[in-house]
Amino acid sequence: MSLEKAARDVRDNAYAPYSEFRVGAAIRGESGAVYTGCNVENVAYPEGTCAEAGAIAAMVAAGETRLTEVYVIADSPHPVTPCGGCRQKLAEFGTGDVVVTMATLDGMTEAMTLAELLPGAFGRHHLGEGHG
Ligand code: THU
Repeated sequence: MSLEKAARDVRDNAYAPYSEFRVGAAIRGESGAVYTGCNVENVAYPEGTCAEAGAIAAMVAAGETRLTEVYVIADSPHPVTPCGGCRQKLAEFGTGDVVVTMATLDGMTEAMTLAELLPGAFGRHHLGEGHG
């Protein structure tokens, strides 16, 4: 299935009663399988989770820890970029050259790599010998 369709479809299930801003994310694992997630808000606002986080959790639950492609879609006037926290979450599982396509519902897209989205990312190499 295309990442675009997967992200569009899962967005329909977003639980966003507080922001009313529904987001869908689809990621492709190294195996080629597609994993999806939507944002899930909570009345205790900080407990809400982003669409990207849901897709990553689905991938890891399925036994994969490397991603090769990401697609995020929302009903926004401009393609929505992943939040800072999600950039770090994505970087945990993908190399800097992974392409993240950001889209609006009416078809505007923008593509950036993980390295462009998170320059100078904190990574395992910062932990030094004997860690991570
Ligand atoms: N949100 C995502 O799910 N992904 C993004 O890339 C940007 C923001 C969600 C979080 C919150 O539920 C809503 O969008 C408004 O910020």
